[in-house]
Amino acid sequence: MPAPTSHTLYWNQLPVPFHPGETIAAVLSRGGIRQWGEAVGGLQARYFCGIGNCQACLVCVDGASPVEACLTPAQDGMRLTPALATSDVVWSAR
Ligand code: FES
Repeated sequence: MPAPTSHTLYWNQLPVPFHPGETIAAVLSRGGIRQWGEAVGGLQARYFCGIGNCQACLVCVDGASPVEACLTPAQDGMRLTPALATSDVVWSAR
């Protein structure tokens, strides 16, 4: 059984506890949150490569521009939303 923690972030307002040093992707996955909204190209955002290569794990932190969840350390009080939910972001295919 994992040790209790007092650290919490929020996925669509759902509190998710975490341990310092975990990435956002690790926290969401361990919390049973596997679908992270729509991704670029109509795909489902999720934890895939884990090394910042595929961009499948983009999420917004506190309403700002998307970050790679697999590379971004979790921080207490973060408010996460699907990357395209707050979309003032304009995606273009090149
Ligand atoms: S899982 Fe591929 S960039 Fe994060």
